[in-house]
Amino acid sequence: MLFLALLFQAPVHLSLDFAKPGVAVSSRLYGLMTEEINYSYDGGLYAELLRNRAFLDDSRRPAHWSAVGDDASINLEPTGRTAARPTALRIHGGAANEGYWGIPVRPSTAYRLTLWVKADAPGPIHASIESPDGATVYARTDVAAVDSQWRKLGATLRIGSVPPITDARLVLRTGDRTVWLEQASLFQPTYKGRENGNRPDLMRLLVDMKPKFLRFPGGNYLEGNTLKDRFPWKETLGPIEGRPGHRSPWGYRSTDGMGLLEFLQWSEDMKAKPLLAVYAGYALNGGYIKPGPDLQPVVDDALNEIEYVIGGPETAWGARRAKDGHPKPFPLECVEVGNEDGFDKSGSYAARFVQFYDAIKAKYPRLRVISTTGGKDWLGLKFPITKREPDLWDEHYYSEAWDMMGMATKYDTYDRKGPKVFVGEWASHDTVPPWQAGPRAGPTPNMKCALGDAAFMTGLERNSDVVEMACYAPLLVNVNPGGRQWSLNLIGYDALRCFGSPSFYAQKMFAENLGDRTVPLTLSNVPTQQQGEKSLPGLFASATSDSRTGTVYVKLVNPLSSEQAIAFDLKGYSPRPSGTLTVLKGDLKTMNSIDEPTKISPVTAEIHGLGPTFQQTLPAHSVVVLTLRRGTRRV
Ligand code: AHR
Repeated sequence: MLFLALLFQAPVHLSLDFAKPGVAVSSRLYGLMTEEINYSYDGGLYAELLRNRAFLDDSRRPAHWSAVGDDASINLEPTGRTAARPTALRIHGGAANEGYWGIPVRPSTAYRLTLWVKADAPGPIHASIESPDGATVYARTDVAAVDSQWRKLGATLRIGSVPPITDARLVLRTGDRTVWLEQASLFQPTYKGRENGNRPDLMRLLVDMKPKFLRFPGGNYLEGNTLKDRFPWKETLGPIEGRPGHRSPWGYRSTDGMGLLEFLQWSEDMKAKPLLAVYAGYALNGGYIKPGPDLQPVVDDALNEIEYVIGGPETAWGARRAKDGHPKPFPLECVEVGNEDGFDKSGSYAARFVQFYDAIKAKYPRLRVISTTGGKDWLGLKFPITKREPDLWDEHYYSEAWDMMGMATKYDTYDRKGPKVFVGEWASHDTVPPWQAGPRAGPTPNMKCALGDAAFMTGLERNSDVVEMACYAPLLVNVNPGGRQWSLNLIGYDALRCFGSPSFYAQKMFAENLGDRTVPLTLSNVPTQQQGEKSLPGLFASATSDSRTGTVYVKLVNPLSSEQAIAFDLKGYSPRPSGTLTVLKGDLKTMNSIDEPTKISPVTAEIHGLGPTFQQTLPAHSVVVLTLRRGTRRV
């Protein structure tokens, strides 16, 4: 009976009405959200290879370092030389650093070694990249001229034509001498060759997503667990040996190698606009700074930070940016005040926001200010009674995949009056929420999540007049054991390799196939799917067109376990007879991984027989982009 029912299931009818105007699609709809979580920067995007490079991770022992050689010893020794580098590693004989779950050996690659060092007697330090047992040496060099003066010394380690491995280590041999190491750094080549820059393979995945903005530095990472642990932007500027690093809320210390300038350059390298979140005087433990005079230094600090980003060379902080190597101001348009301040039970955000808003608008009237609470329903909180209306408000949604599908129509009926929406964090999960599952699930979403994500994105696109920006979170995860605090993340990696999840591919497909106007779309004869108690539509869709080229992009999500025929009716548009169909599909529980990085990935094929009406079948559990090109015949 079921077979017969499916056999005779009439196709879903999808009509696109080109005579109706549609709405303008936001030119910055899809972006990226980032913070230091899951070893996103240290041990991730930031191209430093040594772990605990300044010996500050643990005050009791030299974590991630070990003694190498008979009678060798290593100890932490306070030097108090600088505030940022108060401790040295005293090495007698030899020491090894294990990196972030291994140091990668990339064939035919040169790594830059830098040591901040002195010794009890003059002579070289022998540096090498070796297998964990020391049996194979992949690269070696001498760091010459180490003597009793503190010096910053560099050398290059060149790896030859060898098979890649993930778990090598850096070894520094000192012979009979004792050496004090204040900091050590080993950099792999970076994207666009930037000094203190990013890992190229991860950057390529991010650039492929064509993000229009980068939201940084967090997330919880902006705030920290206590009022002392906020993202200390000023201390993240300048040479890395001057950056003390700080405690992040995700259970490990941040080197702050990825500092304010690096975030800005990262966005520049992706041709994305920076979206700066400024610390607003609230900590995750509930601590807050009283609005009024107590808060004013924090507001002034945010103004200085903004000046660093966009101030001219005549301003104090603009001049500092120029001195740091970037004379040109960055194209900042939006500033977010805090993060998830709806959790501030004191209710102080209403007044804190006003104080920030007034100060930012007074100095930079053209900047758009984002509130982290409010929205029409996020956390059930209305924007606190205040005289200031934010330009946008940031709503966060972490939902089970079928629930996320249920939210695909959320913005269809959203109040068009008032601020625009920035969906500043969102993601679908399978069964257990990612903050509860932590390392027990993931590390990246499966196909079921990608279906939930894609269905939700059809709603974002259809309603891009009110949803101006959106970004998935979290973005990055080191997949090694101990690497993650949040179970589901868009892109996974180890020291050597990386991969995008099915959700990554869904995001990429949506971002790279986007017009500038929506095309009004009607669906009829849509089957219903029953997911537990939930009764959901069996198809989700959105359509946009590019007004310059006439190309039309139809996004379709088939969450059903059977294929679906769709009968298209294009009112007022005559396509060329051939177009393309890009399909992402797979079993609900299937994920990509380091070993199977593209098990689920989109496949594009030409399709033919298109016209004002045509039929197309969607595979089971699929996310599909249909691209139509305008034909020569005028309608
Ligand atoms: O994305 C992970 C965390 O979720 C963010 O740090 C926080 O803003 C949200 O609660």
